[in-house]
Amino acid sequence: MSKKIASARISQESSELLKKLNNSLPFDKVLYKEDIIGSLAHAKMLKEQNIISSEDYVAIEQGLNQILNEIEEGKFDLNGDEEDIHMAIEGRLTQLIGDPGKRLHTARSRNDQVAVDFRMFVRKQNRVISNLLLELIETLLDIANSHTDTLLPGMTHLQHAQPINFGYHMMAYVAMFKRDYERFTDSNERINYSPLGCAALAGTPHPIDRDKTAKELGFKEPTLNCLDSVSDRDFALEILFNIATMMMHISRLSEELILWSSSEFGFIKLSDRHATGSSIMPQKKNPDIPELLRGKTGRSYGNLISLLTVMKGLPLAYNKDTQEDKEGVFDSVETATLSLRVLIEMMEQMSIDTDAMERACNIGHLSATDLADYLVKEEGLPFRDAYHIVGSVVNQAEELSKDISKLTGEELHLIDSRISPNVAKFLDNRVSMNARDSKGGTSTKSTKAQIKSIKKWLEDIKIQ
Ligand code: ARG
Repeated sequence: MSKKIASARISQESSELLKKLNNSLPFDKVLYKEDIIGSLAHAKMLKEQNIISSEDYVAIEQGLNQILNEIEEGKFDLNGDEEDIHMAIEGRLTQLIGDPGKRLHTARSRNDQVAVDFRMFVRKQNRVISNLLLELIETLLDIANSHTDTLLPGMTHLQHAQPINFGYHMMAYVAMFKRDYERFTDSNERINYSPLGCAALAGTPHPIDRDKTAKELGFKEPTLNCLDSVSDRDFALEILFNIATMMMHISRLSEELILWSSSEFGFIKLSDRHATGSSIMPQKKNPDIPELLRGKTGRSYGNLISLLTVMKGLPLAYNKDTQEDKEGVFDSVETATLSLRVLIEMMEQMSIDTDAMERACNIGHLSATDLADYLVKEEGLPFRDAYHIVGSVVNQAEELSKDISKLTGEELHLIDSRISPNVAKFLDNRVSMNARDSKGGTSTKSTKAQIKSIKKWLEDIKIQ
């Protein structure tokens, strides 16, 4: 069938191998709805511009709507050997309504057709992913809200560094996912230009109105230049980059969940719904889900690199290489949406062992910096001198097998007479955490301010 529609100069049936390489229907059938909506807008504009008759338009409109129903009801099988979704739908239309179907492709090429379909698909997915990100942010906010006073060791180099609270740790991820949300929504500003009516590469001599189709399809306006429009896949690269970056964030959180659920940390327990067993070791409960989220991040990077590579050598304008834009995007979108859904559910249902987190704060002299800060603030010592005094205090504490936070005022004073005994209370881990009260810092108060500002941001989004 595809040979008849779009192969005026080809006299032989395509080789089976060509079809296997060339046909995109097996994967681009996902675009059926966008293709039909795009065609409906195009046909309406053709009628309004008197390029086709009203009768032809009515027939086309009815035919396309029937095809939409047939596909959604599983009555039109999209597993045939048509070249792609565009040819499959046009072929079926002509089968259904005859000659008017053959007029639909006036002033249009598959080059602008696929560009508009794919833009609408990516635009929709940007919205789906943005909404899931908001859900994830709300889940993390809830956890943060309940744990602004739960101590855990803040780390650098995966070594205990300073006491922080678990809410603050969650808010770090909220900040990352907020940036992700903004990237997906910003991309939709740039995507929102319609390439429809660009035809093959140079526009068309027919008196079309691209503003009309752009408006009908919810675009801000038509694209500027047709040569660019039929070969531009920046919007696909953007969603791939946005997904890759978001997956990197998901992967970092997953890595922490894996560490935290190990017996060495014991900070969290994933619910049994999100853990798996071992086929040989009966005692095991494995964190396969965060491991898979971490693992799937790899393919999202791969899809981005693939398309960047496909695009890098293409002369203007359309080249069939561009057909390789779709599978990677479909795969990344599926990976992203599934990962987000699973992550939200897993975070909601995991249990948090606040005692284990607080216990871990007694290892590693987390409040050492507080002692140095005290000597600077109260004794007027230069920071570097204070830093060295605290170094020797830590050595002494190690010898006494104590954490610095557990040394008494007398013990501290004995180690160095410049340390007054009343400093001991400042070395308590909770006092230390709350002392870091600067904007964006870890104190309970500051963490609550961060939560409040994100709640306001969420409300503002909902009003828009
Ligand atoms: N299936 C093609 C794609 O996805 C549609 C465009 C084909 N255009 C062409 N001139 N062969 O890119």
